[in-house]
Amino acid sequence: MPDTLLRGRLLTFHDEPSSPDDTDAYSYVEDGAVLMRDGTIAASGTFGDVAAEAKDAVVKDHRPHLLMAGFIDTHIHFPQVQIVASWGNQLLDWLNGYTFPAEADYANAQHARAMAGHFCDLLTEHGTTTAVAFCSVHASSAEALFSEARDRNMRMVAGKTMMDRNAPNAILDTAQSGYDDSKALIERWHNKGRASYAITPRFAITSTPEQLEISGALAGEHPDCYVQTHLSENHDEIAFTATLFPQARDYLDVYEGYGLLGPRMMLGHAIHLKDREIGAIAETGAHPVFCPTSNLFLGSGLFDDAGLRARGIQNGIATDIGAGTSYSMLQTLNEGYKILQLQDQKLHALRAFHWITRGNAEVLGLTDKIGTLDAGTEADVVVINARATAAMDLRMDRAESLSDELFVIQMMGDDRAIAQTYVSGVPQKKDLT
Ligand code: GUN
Ligand code: ZN
Repeated sequence: MPDTLLRGRLLTFHDEPSSPDDTDAYSYVEDGAVLMRDGTIAASGTFGDVAAEAKDAVVKDHRPHLLMAGFIDTHIHFPQVQIVASWGNQLLDWLNGYTFPAEADYANAQHARAMAGHFCDLLTEHGTTTAVAFCSVHASSAEALFSEARDRNMRMVAGKTMMDRNAPNAILDTAQSGYDDSKALIERWHNKGRASYAITPRFAITSTPEQLEISGALAGEHPDCYVQTHLSENHDEIAFTATLFPQARDYLDVYEGYGLLGPRMMLGHAIHLKDREIGAIAETGAHPVFCPTSNLFLGSGLFDDAGLRARGIQNGIATDIGAGTSYSMLQTLNEGYKILQLQDQKLHALRAFHWITRGNAEVLGLTDKIGTLDAGTEADVVVINARATAAMDLRMDRAESLSDELFVIQMMGDDRAIAQTYVSGVPQKKDLT
């Protein structure tokens, strides 16, 4: 494949911007370029400099759009694509009424394969190039997702959900089969191409102590795998967990006691935390994951981003489809901004765009591979049109700075603002630009 040179307004982060004026934290190049060669970024910078190195490259001129690293979604449920926007319930009734029946359908490998295609299409339509996904309990669902991602050269972190109680039989494994299936998937997929495995006990309610113990053993045997689960999303969930694990000091202590906590652990939601739990998360380097559209949709509560950050914790941000209502990381930022406003916390646009790119890459320990437009990293790039809709166009007439423009995209943007998404250097959207 020939080299491809993308021309546009380049924005990439080196660090988390401490304020809208923190220009050291990012590079912005008005006439910028990214040179993509064999799926990686060979060079990026000013168009003049990069073009000089790329005499034979095919030039794709995306001006006046922005070029940014592909977005990273750190918590999403692949088998929930058909239950987004299911009415009326909070977490536990929503799981029982809508989620578990939908996940049972993934016993059918053909269904799982078809949905994996739709899932990856939706991610890239919305500018997301890396996802951290829960699959269903069926090993074949993880197989379907990893295969689909491999066929697209797409970076994917995923795991078969482990759950051996408090759900319908059709979506239960056992402590032993959960271990065996996960182990086989790790051997087959972990660190193969762009795939990484996440050991995935769903949450304390759906795992017996035996299953959590064996999950901890698996994490110990594979310390470079991720671990993903849910924590303290909803008051009824927390109360039920306390009855199931009466010895635990608090909800987090359930996971902690089985050796699951560490810097590669992602804790979806983490809303209603006790001081001890926050201290333990800070000490172990685990990562709470903020899921704004989901937290509002299920009425779960307000994530205390500033409170956790003040303790030195690094939070991820994610859609949590299908309790989340949009695949768009832009819409996720929009709702996130409002949740923080309700708590008198601020999310400025530069930090927001850092969060869904390099910030989430840091959470995953992958800044050497994704999250920036730095030379040597993987060629996952989004092209963003700040005037994608009539409403955005009118608003943009009065945008006065880069951070003003980014805020318009953050609040008003969705898949329509994603003019193109490159995964490993290959365009994924129908070329309308
Ligand atoms: N807690 C356990 N499972 C789930 C899930 O599928 N979605 C959400 N939002 N919370 C959960
Ligand atoms: Zn979730």
